[in-house]
Amino acid sequence: MTLNEHISELTVKVEQMQASTKEELEGLRLKYLSKKGEITELFNEFRSVPKEQKAELGQALNRLRQTAETRINEMRESLSQASAAVQAKEDLTRTPDPIALGTRHPLSLVREEIIDIFSRIGFTVADGPEVEDDRHVFGLLNFAPEHPARDMQDTFFVEKETGEQKPTDILLRTHTSSVQTRVMTDFAKKLQNGEQGAIRVLCPGRVYRNEAISARAHCFFHQVEGLYVDKNVSFADLRQALLYFAKEMFGEDTRIRLRPSYFPFTEPSAEMDISCNICGGKGCAFCKNTGWVEILGCGMVDPNVLEACGIDSKVYSGYAFGMGVERIANLKYRVKDLRLFSENDVRFLNQFQSC
Ligand code: PHE
Repeated sequence: MTLNEHISELTVKVEQMQASTKEELEGLRLKYLSKKGEITELFNEFRSVPKEQKAELGQALNRLRQTAETRINEMRESLSQASAAVQAKEDLTRTPDPIALGTRHPLSLVREEIIDIFSRIGFTVADGPEVEDDRHVFGLLNFAPEHPARDMQDTFFVEKETGEQKPTDILLRTHTSSVQTRVMTDFAKKLQNGEQGAIRVLCPGRVYRNEAISARAHCFFHQVEGLYVDKNVSFADLRQALLYFAKEMFGEDTRIRLRPSYFPFTEPSAEMDISCNICGGKGCAFCKNTGWVEILGCGMVDPNVLEACGIDSKVYSGYAFGMGVERIANLKYRVKDLRLFSENDVRFLNQFQSC
């Protein structure tokens, strides 16, 4: 093999050198660059090269040595970086890596706040199924069979696998008032057993309505509804509780306004507005220059509902209210698009209070 061929062969080898430990690296250094190393040997051979070839081969040899040295230095650098990383991990006194904390979902934050505010005036939480029967969602709530009021809430019905053509009476609840009917029928049983007492519950949960998904509507959303049943409950009690809630939730300066409305299960019924918390009631784009924004529906429990649930409406009266959690969250956090609440995009979720 000529010196030139030798140089080419070694150049390839040197470029492909790999070492995974310091010992291996030292081995490579000795193999090529020590006094008896293969590259050094070539320098010895170089002495006997004819004069006219000296310039060219000398340059090639120098380049080879340079390549070997650079490659060895590179490997030394990366090995020592790796070992520094290992040592840092072994150092038990080192500052720990930051732990990525999750954040609470804005709807959970708002739901908890609503529950917290009402729990301070004696309300507790009641739970119920999302897949319900017609009786608890509509029947006991004074929606007459085939009554057009059922169309107020576009219902998802659940098909039963019976093969029968009869319309199903199993559905996804359209409001958490269904939990209230369960609470009221349980309460009626207690009264029958001679027990005394009152109902003061909040019913938070997810509800479903057959709506096209857009920035302003979704096929599911969250509600917190409230129910208070006792002797001598009046509309003034309802107004007072809601005023307290509005001030706790949106600030001491918040004012409320009750507008007459209609729900089959309350009489009288009202819709509640609060003074716009964005412009303070002066009028802005958010409140469409009215100074008011609607936040919930409410009313006195219709005596028909109390009776249907087995409660004597001559002895007991009550109020109920229901609000959308998304709506309240929207007012608090100014989320323009409802869909963000259910998309689970961490860039959105990270902006809320951490766990
Ligand atoms: N259930 C009603 C709804 O979902 C809200 C409501 C509750 C209204 C209680 C009045 C009283 O629209």
